[in-house]
Amino acid sequence: MEAFDQVATALRRARGVVVLTGAGVSVESGLRPFRGPDGWWQGRDAASLATPEAFAADPALVSAWYDARRLAALGAVPNAAHEALAQLERNVVEAGGRFLLLTQNVDGLHRRAGSERVVELHGSLTVWRDHRSGRRVTPDPTPFTAHPAPGPDGGWLRPDVVWFGEVLPRQALDAAEAALAWCDLLLVVGTSAVVYPAAALVGQAAWAGAVTVEVNVEATPADVDHRLTGPAGVVLPRLLRAVFGPNSGHPLAGG
Ligand code: APR
Repeated sequence: MEAFDQVATALRRARGVVVLTGAGVSVESGLRPFRGPDGWWQGRDAASLATPEAFAADPALVSAWYDARRLAALGAVPNAAHEALAQLERNVVEAGGRFLLLTQNVDGLHRRAGSERVVELHGSLTVWRDHRSGRRVTPDPTPFTAHPAPGPDGGWLRPDVVWFGEVLPRQALDAAEAALAWCDLLLVVGTSAVVYPAAALVGQAAWAGAVTVEVNVEATPADVDHRLTGPAGVVLPRLLRAVFGPNSGHPLAGG
């Protein structure tokens, strides 16, 4: 049986579905990934932008880069992949199952597509915090007039994201690990699966007995049971139609 049919069968049987997404799921919304030929880190050292040390060394540079990404994310529109995952959540929950979407993305597009059960493992670009007090603010959707921008308590604003060398929010990790206890199908969508601890969730889910499935335009190092190769905005709506019927895919993805 073809991988697609095996995955459709596993999804039809699943009572607990967890999805792990990465930057690839937002590529079809026009947002750059981090790795690969068009990635932010192509020819650029991530440590020079996405670390506390980089912010300490050049807060204006780091603030400007994240502000530009914040505005790009606010200007972007969820694509067929985001919408298929929001639909999948509704279908699984309406059928009495459990669902959780774990995202490494900080662009907010999953929630804007209607996903509700979302854990942002790496934080959010739309929330910033005072680098001294930690107090969080949601800046207006307009460019900062100064970089770094002043924080509410005398510090500078920094994005409320997890930088390299920083730990993930405890709550987010706890929610992810708790979900693995009831997960019987893990979909790994649009991530290069090289950044930890998020990438470790794939092995943990498999170890806990879940069927693991990768949806990506290419194979990654993730050790999964099945690979569905193609753009997430094409593969996911097709999978939903195969499992939940013709009206459950995304209307834009070719009926
Ligand atoms: N559909 C599916 N997959 C895609 C698509 C698409 N349309 N376009 C690209 N991809 C895949 C790429 O093949 C790659 O495997 O998405 C993946 C994107 O990988 P990365 O750019 O490494 O993004 P991600 O895995 O989310 O990075 C993890 O690294 O830089 C940090 O904090 C940042 O959260 C980020 C983390």
